[in-house]
Amino acid sequence: MNTSTKALGAAALVQVLVLLLSACATQGGEQGALADAGDCIDMVAGGLRPLAKERDQRFNGKVGADVATCRGSDKAAEFRKTPYVDWANYWATGDSATLYPGTTGVGRHLSANGRGIDGALLDLEYQRMELIKFNLFDNNGTFVDYVLGRDGVAGPALKTWDAMRLPKSAPEYNAVGGDGPQLCSGELIRFRNLDGVCNDIRNPRLGSAGTPFARNVEFESTYPDLGNNELARNRHGDRLALLKPDPQLISRKLFTREQSDPAKCNEGEGLPGNSTAGQCDYKKAPFFNVLAAFWIQFMTHDWFSHLEEGHNNDGAMMPVGCSTGADGKPLGAAQIKALGCRPGDRIDRGYVAEAGAPPTFTANGQPQLARAYKTHTNTVTGWWDASQIYGYDAVSRSRVKRDPADPAKLLLQPGAHAGAGEAQGELPLFGANDKFNPQWAGQSAVAFPDNWTIGISFYHTVFAREHNAFVDAFRAQTRATPEADSGLRNPVRPDDVIRYKDVSANELFEIGRLVVAAEIAKIHTIEWTPQLLYDEPLYLGMNANWNGLLAGHEIAKAALEKIVVQNFGKSENAKKATQWYSALASGPGIFGLGSHVYSDDAVFALYDPKKTDIWSLKNPDHVNGGINHFGSPFNFPEEFVSVYRLHALVPDLIEFREWDRDPNVIRAKVPVIETFRGKATKAMLDAGAANWALSMGRQRLGLLTLQNTPQFMQNIALPRLQTATGKIDIAALDVIRDREHGVPRFNEFRRQYGLRQLTSFDDFIDQRLPAGSPPRKEQERVIATLREVYGQHRCDASKIITDAQRNVDGTRIDDCLGHANGSLVDNIEDVDTVVGWLAEFTRPHGFAISETQFQVFILNASRRLYSDRFFTSSFRPEFYTALGVRWVSDNGPLGKVMERGTANGHTVEVAPLKRILLRTMPELAPELDHVVNTFDPWGRDRGAYYTLGWKPRPGAEADPAFAPAP
Ligand code: HEM
Repeated sequence: MNTSTKALGAAALVQVLVLLLSACATQGGEQGALADAGDCIDMVAGGLRPLAKERDQRFNGKVGADVATCRGSDKAAEFRKTPYVDWANYWATGDSATLYPGTTGVGRHLSANGRGIDGALLDLEYQRMELIKFNLFDNNGTFVDYVLGRDGVAGPALKTWDAMRLPKSAPEYNAVGGDGPQLCSGELIRFRNLDGVCNDIRNPRLGSAGTPFARNVEFESTYPDLGNNELARNRHGDRLALLKPDPQLISRKLFTREQSDPAKCNEGEGLPGNSTAGQCDYKKAPFFNVLAAFWIQFMTHDWFSHLEEGHNNDGAMMPVGCSTGADGKPLGAAQIKALGCRPGDRIDRGYVAEAGAPPTFTANGQPQLARAYKTHTNTVTGWWDASQIYGYDAVSRSRVKRDPADPAKLLLQPGAHAGAGEAQGELPLFGANDKFNPQWAGQSAVAFPDNWTIGISFYHTVFAREHNAFVDAFRAQTRATPEADSGLRNPVRPDDVIRYKDVSANELFEIGRLVVAAEIAKIHTIEWTPQLLYDEPLYLGMNANWNGLLAGHEIAKAALEKIVVQNFGKSENAKKATQWYSALASGPGIFGLGSHVYSDDAVFALYDPKKTDIWSLKNPDHVNGGINHFGSPFNFPEEFVSVYRLHALVPDLIEFREWDRDPNVIRAKVPVIETFRGKATKAMLDAGAANWALSMGRQRLGLLTLQNTPQFMQNIALPRLQTATGKIDIAALDVIRDREHGVPRFNEFRRQYGLRQLTSFDDFIDQRLPAGSPPRKEQERVIATLREVYGQHRCDASKIITDAQRNVDGTRIDDCLGHANGSLVDNIEDVDTVVGWLAEFTRPHGFAISETQFQVFILNASRRLYSDRFFTSSFRPEFYTALGVRWVSDNGPLGKVMERGTANGHTVEVAPLKRILLRTMPELAPELDHVVNTFDPWGRDRGAYYTLGWKPRPGAEADPAFAPAP
């Protein structure tokens, strides 16, 4: 152990955390007085809580009464009674109404507002550390080592696994070392490989296409309907099966969007001629636009897919419900008609990779499963590598069209519309020789063409233009300084300088991919997510993931980075390699961790003009040194896919506008279903990308809540199925797929993730709303329907239902959930996870998602950065070129550009996607001038501190979207 590690005892960890928090000073506002002094003193005297030793002793986001009062007054203390996280009620975590009376901004740290924000950040970091400790379950056969350790090294500190070696069948097998120790080198480590191998050079297979989805929950808690596990049997009795409760019943009762005038909506088809008189009602999120909805669909196409080439297990068709009612009895014709469901619908079953009895092992005298009861394959790479654009296997890559005039570029063809962006081009269509599924006919040629929507088409267009903009800038640099060092190196000849003029078209194409993938990850982390979670703690938290909490405090940042990477990253001690690593990495930020190695003391090296960065391409420990898998090889877990079933975000009709006429005018209401698959491409070419950007940028997306799924999605035509109805209900399918993948039901899901369970359906209702108020009454109405669908049963207190949590008094949780033995209790345990998180009416301020979904993000959003060499130690000119590093760091050419004024008290850079839109569709410049975050509705007045209000900014007063609802 070297000195810096020794110096960091447990007490020092606390101090460092405080240092992190004090570094995140925010501007503005007067200071709240040190109110509630008694509670704050009690809180300090109590010290920071230790990290839970056992799963059932977790923090659950709940603090003591003195802590809550110190950070948020009696109101926060009062809220502790609910199952939801406490930080959401601290000072300054909401809009200006949550600022300490008399203040207008966050102010200093020990002020009331400062305590609220710092407290929230601390709670969030505890959650992340606990998630890393308790929620990693790999399905590749590494779990036994994770639990038992190997060769004296604790499991969470392990860095390599045999299961992550390439098999003989892999084309790269010999190149990485064959039967001997495997280490990627040479050409294999230069760029993002198509199939995702060799991102981690010591674990070539990690994250590659075709590896199994992981889990974030105990294997024993998966596939509850199999009844393999006593706790699951106690939890659900015989109430669960693939089609029980009936998924179409759930869809029609709990997902359907109510319409004030159904004829004007016409099941999502709108009115003839796309008349603006068409109207499909939906519940809207005022601070998030339709561009944001399609952004996340675009992301999921990069991260994961259960399907292969747009289909599931073709040979095996299955019914999808509309067969039983809430009472479990068969539905009669009249009931079917009233529900509007279709008993004749069929779909192909999901693929299963492994279904045999899982191996078991013994830990602490207890038998444990070594994998989940079944596994399923992620058919694309798990990396954030823009594989939806550039491909993940040979077939998908064959669809990626390069420009014959400059093969470093993607092929774009001039668009038919006016506008400088349009001149940059639109994507070409599939040609006769392309490999594509018949249902994709007429679509643009891209690597991942499934579920092609107008939004997906938009983002593919934007990033193809951006790729080419980078190539153009590189070519311009080459013309200006052909002999200059590009920064790129080839590990085969690491000492040879590669001049600009030496960079080949293929190399430049792959560099473009690295740059675009990093830009996408940056947009997602510091632009999309802070708008999805629109409050101060998450603004700071997400920026910490990228830039670090210590941005602007370079000495402390460099010191922490050295400790994190050199000591904790290499530690064989489980705690240091995981929890401490995670806590302290928020200081320097995850992005770029390990991309500099200083020979001198890091603390001063940064300010030493003679400093030497000794990072070397010849040293595998430098190339790979910044990653951390926390002992469990990264892939997305099934639970992550479940919380991304965000179909409710999509409106039925898009309010179409034109940038070169008055943008305030809605000129047509275009059904989303008329912009699906080949029709998306036609719509894009007919109207041009800039008009779609404006239209989707101005419009609010759908709230993630019950009874808010687009009408068209319940009736979508899937011709490939060749079934009697030819249709499918995607809302019902979301429920079925989660059941096929064995996602634990909602309440156990929360317990597994370290959130407090609910004890009845009424717990969904937001207790902050006054009794009898209209929104509360509406929530009560929806919850009554939930009770009707999922039902109740007489409980049996002798049945223990979980080992993931305990009652507050320390006793074990049983079937009665605290109610009297033998009483009638809600079947809250049976609620499907998608239904549960949609039902969460209680949320932190500005959250477009529920806290349950967010908990899944805390873990996985960090992990996909921590695990990726190209976002950490290999974010270097040797891979990206000097221009590429600058492009990602500064959001494009010409250095950093700052926004005018401040946003929620912060001085901010022009956001990365806004910069890209300014480059790729400059015709939108006047409209974008008002935009601070591309995902905030473009006509909205962002107002004061984190307001969610819906009123027009200057210039958008005439926009009918702001007219009061009729
Ligand atoms: C017009 C818009 C959309 C349509 C028509 C659509 C359609 C579909 C269809 C047909 C499936 C395949 C179901 C199956 O067989 O398992 C699917 C899966 C999925 N969709 Fe969508 N979708 C849309 C938008 C979105 C959006 C905005 C999101 C946001 C994240 C999203 C997330 C997902 C996810 C996570 C899956 C599961 C994929 C998997 O299991 O690998 N979709 N969607």
